[in-house]
Amino acid sequence: MSTVDNRIGFVRGAFVPLREAVLPVMDRGFLFGDGVYEVTAVIEGRLVDNDHHLQRLNRSLGEIGIANPFSTGKWTEIETEIMRRNELRNGLIYIQVSRGVAERAFQYAEGLEPTVVMFPQFSKVQSNPIIETGARIITVPDLRWARRDIKSTSLLAQVMAKHAVKQAGVKEAWMLDGDIITEGASSTAFIVTRGNELVTRNLSRDILPGITRRTVLEIAKRHGLTIVERPFSKAEVLEASEAFYTSASTIAVPVIEMDGVCVGGGVPGPVFRSLYDAYLQDVMTLPASIS
Ligand code: PDD
Repeated sequence: MSTVDNRIGFVRGAFVPLREAVLPVMDRGFLFGDGVYEVTAVIEGRLVDNDHHLQRLNRSLGEIGIANPFSTGKWTEIETEIMRRNELRNGLIYIQVSRGVAERAFQYAEGLEPTVVMFPQFSKVQSNPIIETGARIITVPDLRWARRDIKSTSLLAQVMAKHAVKQAGVKEAWMLDGDIITEGASSTAFIVTRGNELVTRNLSRDILPGITRRTVLEIAKRHGLTIVERPFSKAEVLEASEAFYTSASTIAVPVIEMDGVCVGGGVPGPVFRSLYDAYLQDVMTLPASIS
């Protein structure tokens, strides 16, 4: 972090420049990774799929027994204020919630006051050049725990996967459980089979219920595509006519190569493109939170 970080965040109840924000060292988020998070994209002043992100936040909190400190309306109000104070028209808003501050002990007292930290990141989510060229990816073993449906701040396995991504000079890693793809290190994996079926893994405790996944499937249904929700293997990716991944921070990215082997003819495919374009079109019909 830069020492001249002028971004305004929301930290423990107040809007503050991030360079001045401090947290108690005994926060359970720091000591145990005892917390959850959310990320919502901001495109042209619009909070994208935000109600669904806030619903998933509520669920993640509930699954680990942290009371949701705010209503959906209040979360949205704070997000909008972060947009306003940072003049954030394009980028991301992170919400991080930990169980709170206490003596270091695995067991926790009920009713701790959750620590809430929110901050913006500036990026143009919607005009990533990778959309045109396609991304090269690698596979890595999925080293995560058994409750991947909770958007936990304990992200060590993903940090390791993303380091491998950096070392390989690629864009993303898809994680493997045996020969089966679970999901991307920070994205949901999709393929289009030669039989023209759109395949993505079914929801369970094994993957994060991606919000972008949800919206993309809704659009695919509207487009009359055949959708199959089931696990798929690495071999199926290599045989697929298209592969792509989705996330709030990228919308969708076409995959052209995996572990050095060409995927989908080595160019972004038409199914990806039509879903991506429709997604952005839908976003532009949302009301803007800031002008
Ligand atoms: N990550 N799977 C994992 C493991 C993820 O971390 C993410 C998102 C997704 C896609 O979910 P969504 O469409 O709701 O963003 C799937 C975010 C972008 C992050 O950690 O920054």
